[in-house]
Amino acid sequence: MKGKFIFNHRIAPTFFHLGIHCPEIAEKAQPGQFVMVRVREGGDPLLRRPFSFYRIRKKHVEIMYEVVGKGTQIMSAMKKGEEIDLLGPLGKGFTITQGMKKAVLVAGGAGVAPLLALGERLKGTADLTLYLGAKTASGLLSVHEFEALGKVVVATEDGSKGYRGMITDLIEHKVKVKMHGLHLFSCGPRPMLKKVSAFARRNGFPCQVSLEAYMGCGIGACLGCAVKVKTGKGQADYLKVCTDGPVFESSTVVFE
Ligand SMILES: Cc1cc2nc3c(=O)[nH]c(=O)nc-3n(C[C@H](O)[C@H](O)[C@H](O)COP(=O)(O)OP(=O)(O)OC[C@H]3O[C@@H](n4cnc5c(N)ncnc54)[C@H](O)[C@@H]3O)c2cc1C
Ligand code: FES
Repeated sequence: MKGKFIFNHRIAPTFFHLGIHCPEIAEKAQPGQFVMVRVREGGDPLLRRPFSFYRIRKKHVEIMYEVVGKGTQIMSAMKKGEEIDLLGPLGKGFTITQGMKKAVLVAGGAGVAPLLALGERLKGTADLTLYLGAKTASGLLSVHEFEALGKVVVATEDGSKGYRGMITDLIEHKVKVKMHGLHLFSCGPRPMLKKVSAFARRNGFPCQVSLEAYMGCGIGACLGCAVKVKTGKGQADYLKVCTDGPVFESSTVVFE
């Protein structure tokens, strides 16, 4: 399916905010799902690249991406009006239930991307707090966008903004066990998700995490994105991040 670039702005030294007109995908997309992008025709790069929905609108979707390699470099040079080949929406997104009155979103670095779409969907139904962590102040992304949705608390490892230290230490102090009906949602580096998951388990909070994995196909065919999970009997098994996720109940994931 073709999508047309409607904007592609640099928002931080290595980050871009991209809008793609694609009504067929926009009308079906859910927070936490993703799209596979073929950055250009031909065989290089060969594989499509996965990106979460950062915003979902009626006729377009938005992506926030970091330039890390060839594919994202090519995307960053593309201009308004250019077309791109998309496959999506794919995967299983966040599960939103009616009883969610308080939601705490915990993001590390670029992990804000799927959480903004989720926050926009939850606004008006749940009381939202976003905990946003980065190495340094310039890595704190989408702060203003989240301030429009709820309370934002930031932490930086070097102390250049907000709490000095890890965002996972901050939630230990701030998110209290007595907050009944609270749901945690998190996206970011695996070590951070492991700590958020352990915090949720200790305190009895339901918690959903959005995982990343190397994806060859995005549709369950290549088995490249397997993640270790617990089965009901306490044994380990594997699920596919692309079709069983990328969003999982944190209690099912084996973080090694
Ligand atoms: C479900 C899902 C959603 C994602 N959403 C976003 C998003 O919203 N914004 C965003 O910036 N990125 C997102 N990513 C990561 C994004 O897909 C990769 O950064 C992108 O594919 C890199 O392509 P490239 O050609 O520029 O880099 P490559 O040349 O392929 O790789 C450059 C470097 O990035 C690393 N890398 C590449 N892909 C991944 C990956 N999947 N996981 C971890 N490291 C990787 C490589 O090891 C290498 O060091 C998502 C990944 C998944 C699986
Ligand atoms: S990316 Fe191919 S099976 Fe998940």
